Amino acid sequence: MPTALDRMLTIDDLKRRAKRRVPKMFFDYADSGSWTEGTYRDNEADFQKIRLRQRVAVNMEGRTLRTQMMGEEVAMPVALAPTGLTGMQIADGEIKAAKAAEKFGVPFTLSTMSICSIEDIAEHTTRPFWFQLYVMRDREFIYRLIDRAKAAKCSALVLTMDLQVLGQRHKDLRNGLSAPPKFTPKHVWQMATRPLWAFGMLGTQRRTFRNIHGHVSGAADLGSLSAWTASQFDPTLSWSDVRWIKERFGGPVIVKGVLDPEDAKLAIANGADAIIVSNHGGRQLDGAPSSIRVLPEILDAVNGAVDVYLDGGIRSGQDVLKAVALGAKGAFIGRAFLYGLGAGGEAGVTRALEIIQREMDITMALMGERDIHNVGPHNIYSNDLLRRQGY
Ligand SMILES: Cc1cc2nc3c(=O)[nH]c(=O)nc-3n(C[C@H](O)[C@H](O)[C@H](O)COP(=O)(O)O)c2cc1C
Repeated sequence: MPTALDRMLTIDDLKRRAKRRVPKMFFDYADSGSWTEGTYRDNEADFQKIRLRQRVAVNMEGRTLRTQMMGEEVAMPVALAPTGLTGMQIADGEIKAAKAAEKFGVPFTLSTMSICSIEDIAEHTTRPFWFQLYVMRDREFIYRLIDRAKAAKCSALVLTMDLQVLGQRHKDLRNGLSAPPKFTPKHVWQMATRPLWAFGMLGTQRRTFRNIHGHVSGAADLGSLSAWTASQFDPTLSWSDVRWIKERFGGPVIVKGVLDPEDAKLAIANGADAIIVSNHGGRQLDGAPSSIRVLPEILDAVNGAVDVYLDGGIRSGQDVLKAVALGAKGAFIGRAFLYGLGAGGEAGVTRALEIIQREMDITMALMGERDIHNVGPHNIYSNDLLRRQGY
């Protein structure tokens, strides 16, 4: 008997199911960009402009998507992006997503702003995961946070550089988003109309930012996310910080949030081991170009010095292949896995990964490729993309 999740054929199917199961304020938190949401929309729309080259009568047997990311074996070149408040999409969300990623064989990245802590994830997984760092004013706290990631054997640190101040997201402000949730009649109603979610939440103690709560003074009640972020995130963060962070962590540092070729060069000059071309899923500078649009110029600037990854707008296996064809070593997915999580917990994340994997596999075959390592510019009409975008 196929389950409801088996009938989900696209990430969009999972999104619709998540919307029915996750309280509005948390679903909206995932499905939002800053201001007009123009960059959020472009991230997805610009993938649609790239056309794939069909080849026929090529032996398609024995295909493989297996490759490496940061020297680690992966089932396909896809990693779970760090997302805050993931444990509010469903109870213990980060643990569930990390377990799904581990079983599938792709990296999981835990956000600083997660509900489940670094230690929670370490306790529930057996292989190393990645940790995403936001640099805050309280440096003692950041030192300890890096040390905790190290103690949990995190095998890479993802250093996010594009959130020194928070881009304004209208939905979050209108919804009064906070963690733990407030208990106004509006919020109680949103939660009460999602009974499965509510029962799950009643069954867990993990309802606040556990990487932070109890580890930093003055954060007993985190209250409004935007107010707290405004007071804690370090607006003086600079490229020179990459060095001491790297030294303290002692492992590879992936710099996330690069959208400009000059910044890519600066990241590398300051020790980045890899970069993620990202506009934070359209949640920070609205009006910035989509990630896929700037990928080619950043690859030119990097000139093979480090691996370049991309995130933003990946909703299918085809999107991953397009990024890889343009030269990315892999892609990170944010909302694609969050919708799976909201739709069906660990099994829902597995389903999201299966959807992406199957689509990559079949698409690769129809492009006449058997090995992901052979996918390249010859598989797409990239000139088309550049011309349409006015380059
Ligand atoms: C709900 C949500 C929360 C996010 N929280 C974080 C975070 O805590 N740290 C971070 O570096 N990026 C965060 N991001 C950005 C993601 O890591 C990633 O850049 C983005 O989701 C990619 O776009 P996509 O969702 O279209 O795949 C968040 C994104 C979403 C959707």
